[in-house]
Amino acid sequence: MKALLAEVEERVRAKFSNQEGSHDWFHIDRVRRTALYLQSQEGGDAALIELAALLHDYSDHKYNGGDFEAGAKEVQHLLLSLGAASHLALQVAQIVQIVSYKGAKVADQNTSLEGQIVRDADRLDAIGAIGIARAFSYGGSRDRALYDPSISPTLHDSKEAYAQDKGHTINHFYEKLLLLKDRMETPTAQRLAAQRHAVMEQFIAQFKQEWNPGNQDIL
Ligand code: ADP
Ligand code: NI
Repeated sequence: MKALLAEVEERVRAKFSNQEGSHDWFHIDRVRRTALYLQSQEGGDAALIELAALLHDYSDHKYNGGDFEAGAKEVQHLLLSLGAASHLALQVAQIVQIVSYKGAKVADQNTSLEGQIVRDADRLDAIGAIGIARAFSYGGSRDRALYDPSISPTLHDSKEAYAQDKGHTINHFYEKLLLLKDRMETPTAQRLAAQRHAVMEQFIAQFKQEWNPGNQDIL
């Protein structure tokens, strides 16, 4: 198992080394470390959690031309090619398949404790101070405006509509980031999310106040 983990880490590190700051190797490594911390509090199979965390964005639809299924399949093939047992490769692929957020009105799929932990860890990295930094890094990489008060947020009801949206980055807070607190499944992640959520609320209030100096009503 140690050899497999080391091999996977090397592949992921190489693949993500040139990615923009919202989805670089440091994001993967933070999710891995957060997931292992959640495991220490909540239980679950640590090896499965670590592999799934390392591979959770391996072929993300945002970076592969929009294919929602490719990531899980690629991960399964990679693990099999590295000699992983077939049931382990399948378990990791099943987690990779359910991690991604698919819209405000799209329910999360049920998953194992290990899946809940990896999904919670990925979502914790999307909120708080790091979440704010990542959102603007991603928005910048796609030439999105910081904010445009004339374009309101959309609560998407399909993964396709969510993926196609090209709105400004402040909308992303209302369409995803501020909703994540209530989607955390493990008690430890719920506790961590509450504090990170408060940081984002304060940031948004300050941002809008600076946008409209002197006009407190617009908040
Ligand atoms: P998921 O698979 O749930 O989308 P990821 O680990 O791939 O999770 O990362 C999603 C992160 O990418 C968001 O939390 C945010 O930082 C950034 N991101 C994605 N879409 C947008 C967007 N439309 N505007 C700004 N940031 C975005
Ligand atoms: Ni991620």
